[in-house]
Amino acid sequence: MNRILKTTMFLIIVFTTGCYYESEEKLYPVNPADCDLTEVTFSGTIKPILQATCFTCHSNSNYLNSGGGIKLQNYADIKIMAGNGKLMGAVKHENGFIPMPQGGGKLTACEISQLQKWIDNGTLNN
Ligand code: HEC
Repeated sequence: MNRILKTTMFLIIVFTTGCYYESEEKLYPVNPADCDLTEVTFSGTIKPILQATCFTCHSNSNYLNSGGGIKLQNYADIKIMAGNGKLMGAVKHENGFIPMPQGGGKLTACEISQLQKWIDNGTLNN
């Protein structure tokens, strides 16, 4: 086998294994064992989740047009929806609530657990 062939085969192996891991990560973005429930904070955990999946409709500038009049951008507004049970009812797709995010995939089990943890800890503005 000449050197060029060997190098080519080496590169093919590196690239294919590289792609394999990359696609596995996209298919299973959250490993339940890796779900961090010990350091759940409003600013570091909760707001980023809502920002990524809910702000397109529920931000301060979009909620009137697309969010059914429900604001979920500021701490005070999110706390109200957490306190009246609608936040968890909607993201867990419970009976009697409108399933959220509307038109999108359900939040991951980890994200739902993190929201629940934040509420169980007292919906702190931390
Ligand atoms: C594509 C737009 C859109 C997205 C994205 C979206 N929502 Fe909504 N949401 C709406 C609309 C519209 C309503 C009002 C529906 C109605 O009254 O029929 C609503 C209602 C709600 C309600 C009230 C539910 C109830 O049963 O009364 C909650 C809570 C809520 N959304 C939370 C969220 C959360 C949390 C996310 C992100 C995980 C999210 N929404 C993402 C459009 C959206």
